[in-house]
Amino acid sequence: MRMNKLAWAAIASGTLLAQAALALAPGDRVDNFRLLDHRGESHELYYYSDASAIVLMVQGNGCPIVRNQLPRLAEIRDAYADENVVFLLLNANLQDDRERIRQEADEFAIDFPILMDDSQLIGETLAVRRTAETFVIDPEGWRLAYRGPVDDRVSYQAQRPEARQHFLTDALDAVLGGEAVTQAEVEPEGCLVHFPHREQRAGEPPNYVKDVAPLIAEHCVACHRPGGIGPFAMSEYAIVHGFAPMIREVLRTDRMPPWHADRHHGEFSNERSLTAAERRTLVHWVDAGAPRGEGTDPLPALAARDWPEWELGEPDLVIELPAFEVPATGVIPYQHPRVSNPLEEGVWVRAVDFAPGDRAVVHHIIATFAGREGQHAREGALGSALGGFVPGGGPTEYPQGTGVYLDPEAIFILQMHYTTMGRATTDVTRMALYFADEPPAKELRNLVLINPRIRIPPHARNHTEEAAHTFDRDVLIHSLLPHAHYRGRSSSFIAVYPDGREEILLSVPNYDFNWQHDYVLAEPVLLPAGTTLVHRTSWDNSAQNRANPDPDVEVTWGLQSWDEMLFGSVRYTHAEATASTAGGAPSATTAGH
Ligand code: HEC
Repeated sequence: MRMNKLAWAAIASGTLLAQAALALAPGDRVDNFRLLDHRGESHELYYYSDASAIVLMVQGNGCPIVRNQLPRLAEIRDAYADENVVFLLLNANLQDDRERIRQEADEFAIDFPILMDDSQLIGETLAVRRTAETFVIDPEGWRLAYRGPVDDRVSYQAQRPEARQHFLTDALDAVLGGEAVTQAEVEPEGCLVHFPHREQRAGEPPNYVKDVAPLIAEHCVACHRPGGIGPFAMSEYAIVHGFAPMIREVLRTDRMPPWHADRHHGEFSNERSLTAAERRTLVHWVDAGAPRGEGTDPLPALAARDWPEWELGEPDLVIELPAFEVPATGVIPYQHPRVSNPLEEGVWVRAVDFAPGDRAVVHHIIATFAGREGQHAREGALGSALGGFVPGGGPTEYPQGTGVYLDPEAIFILQMHYTTMGRATTDVTRMALYFADEPPAKELRNLVLINPRIRIPPHARNHTEEAAHTFDRDVLIHSLLPHAHYRGRSSSFIAVYPDGREEILLSVPNYDFNWQHDYVLAEPVLLPAGTTLVHRTSWDNSAQNRANPDPDVEVTWGLQSWDEMLFGSVRYTHAEATASTAGGAPSATTAGH
């Protein structure tokens, strides 16, 4: 790495080694990252690969210099409106939470996305020191082209009527013209940003045995174990050490652990994300060279552990699903096997579990059932929800005092998502059902929110549609499952109460077709009669969406993954206990627009 001012200053303070890694000089590569903005939208730096330049200004609430420079940044954005330059702000202040940033944005009419760097990992690697510092990133090779102030107009407690130096626009013109930036680094003026963990990273870095292995055991090993769905088993130091740079990348881009809900809205009992502090520990450890530390490595024993086949004990009924041949490579369309219910009497189900035949290829399962063949044709392949499987997710137990009634006539309809792993295999998955001894106080019901009239224009980056249902009695919402296909970009469920108040029950800002999570609310949410539940999904039909099979076509509703869906599955109960309807038909409600 080239020496720059920061590094030289660090020599003087005697912490050269630690600090050198913290500098980011013009010409250096800017690593990818993904962050939410203050409105809850997700941004990945490398998504903007078709931009001619990316301008990133460090924002911080209450800093007069930022407030003073933002109108100028907006003018520059307008002046470059035809040049395909992306403008973003970055807030790395620990004291600024989302509400405060929103207030600041409202008060000062800031209409740029403000990316929230809650772990400070991005600010740290950009070597941010002061707010109002502006970065110009050239997507060609992801090189830093410029860092410094917008211009020389605003300084501490002083402002000139006119700028004499236009650093930012000079840099932009050079990048757009394919030329070198003459003044590529200028000392910024702004409010110092406090990075209390930068020293931790530099001074006494986390080590594997003490800090890292416990986090991996808790958050990664359920999938990254021998025979698990994760492509490699985190079974000892040497392996985790070897994958360390990759671990840094998946954490900075929020790919792992797979959990796609915005933590700002709702609490979910099956949540599996890392806190900002945990992400920082793992990434700081990688940055420090992934040191082992002293002591016994706890992962080998964990990897060798026997995992019980059925976590809830002996099932009441085990159903073997049809065998499926999984090839060594390629993309496999969702499989929808159907199996008749072998029982002769109706039962109340209280829990469902799955034992994949080959854990390395079963990516998820959604189990539903329909009264008889042909029903639920409109929703495509899915009927009333029964339960699902995601790797490392454990069994589905229904909320206390509730159950799902299974008619003897029922037909199970499964959605099986297989991923290939480099070697052919045959999967025979088994589904286990657990019955209640007596009818539960409440029936667990299923609402399906769909909109089969969606039309997504070619090349649209953010096309949104909705489906909605108004409840005519008080209900408790237990879980929410959004479903779209490869073009799905974001998805949410919003309660619109009778008094007009809106509440986001679930927001998935970065929808990923690969991961079909059923988001189980930690506490059921009461929706009084007259509340409308809105399910909203946005799609990205542009070429920038790497999963998009064809950006040139208008996309409409369909079962295949190259078609699209707006499909939300909601589990709820009536708020008032009602006599259970043993012997009745399964109660799926379908609501569309
Ligand atoms: C729910 C299962 C699951 C959990 C939990 C999980 N992973 Fe993964 N991981 C996967 C799967 C599956 C893949 C393969 C990529 C895919 O299908 O998305 C993967 C891939 C990876 C990769 C390879 C890069 C890539 O994107 O393919 C890394 C690195 C990784 N995981 C790290 C982690 C770390 C670190 C944790 C814990 C903090 C973790 N994973 C937790 C399932 C999981």
